[in-house]
Amino acid sequence: MLKFKELYKEFCGFLEKETFDFEPKELYEPVSYTLALGGKRIRPIMALLSCDFFGGDIKEAMNPAMGIEIFHNFTLLHDDIMDDAPIRRGKETVYKKWNSNIAILSGDTMFALAYKYITQTDSKYLKTILEVFNKTAIEVCEGQQYDMNYETEDNISISDYMKMIRLKTAVFLGAALKIGALIAETNRNNVDHIYCFGENLGMAFQLQDDYLDVFGNEAKFGKKTGGDIITNKKTFLYLKAFELARGEELKVLEENFIPNHPNNELKVEKIKEVYRKLKVDEYSAIEINRYYQKAMQHFEKIDCPDCDKVEMLNFAERLIKREY
Ligand code: IPE
Ligand code: IPE
Ligand code: MG
Ligand code: MG
Ligand code: MG
Repeated sequence: MLKFKELYKEFCGFLEKETFDFEPKELYEPVSYTLALGGKRIRPIMALLSCDFFGGDIKEAMNPAMGIEIFHNFTLLHDDIMDDAPIRRGKETVYKKWNSNIAILSGDTMFALAYKYITQTDSKYLKTILEVFNKTAIEVCEGQQYDMNYETEDNISISDYMKMIRLKTAVFLGAALKIGALIAETNRNNVDHIYCFGENLGMAFQLQDDYLDVFGNEAKFGKKTGGDIITNKKTFLYLKAFELARGEELKVLEENFIPNHPNNELKVEKIKEVYRKLKVDEYSAIEINRYYQKAMQHFEKIDCPDCDKVEMLNFAERLIKREY
């Protein structure tokens, strides 16, 4: 089985050969800028990894993998506007560097470009892959809307949060693996279990993202920390803190989680202090592990005696322990 690093190299080689150097430059420069900034490329690699795992030819999965990565980058262009995020992958976000209108339209173009690549898949699997992709793309938007709604809604439960991150993030990781598995033409049981494996890893992935948004190292993480606190995102950390807080700590949460706080730096500092005291990060780690175990249960149900499981397991472990 091919190693993650080899697949990463193969994918980056493919991506670098593609050019988006078209006119008008205001539309295409942000596309090239974003795609050249790198990122972890986990979703396309997942598609390739899964295809290779089930004995498929990764060349057949390269175009859909590219479509998956471009779609992901499109969501980031719009997400950064929605989240007022100034930094991504260690560089200015597109709407900051240019403006929101540019980020919207370049994002829209990337959405269509994603389909351009997806549809360059062998007609044998195209219809099924498009069905998976369309369903996932709509779910991501649904998740994003819940995420935005929750910024100003109270009484959000941990199960609401889990539903929201399943939609905005987890299903896409599941779909990437599923698309690779479909191209490898493995059986239905395996396709379903690899999807659920990815979906549960995706839950752990977003929980870790929310943890890093508070406690991560900015240089490594590539994003400005504290953003979720400033925008009153109903993350697991937020919800757990409200569940556990009493007295003075509850007062600090209530006084600071307000719209348009006059001093965001102070807000982040105060909330972080309460999070630390209540050890909400430890509860988050427990949840991450719970989803990791769920992912493993699905992985064990994959019926593929000849498949080399080591690379997939290494990948899963690295994914949930990430610091960036
Ligand atoms: C960011 O995804 C959006 C989330 C779902 C957390 P990644 O963390 O995969 O971003 P890049 O592509 O590596 O920059
Ligand atoms: C993003 O969630 C999910 C999507 C882009 C669909 P976040 O808003 O947490 O992602 P980051 O932290 O900005 O990368
Ligand atoms: Mg964001
Ligand atoms: Mg967001
Ligand atoms: Mg985040």
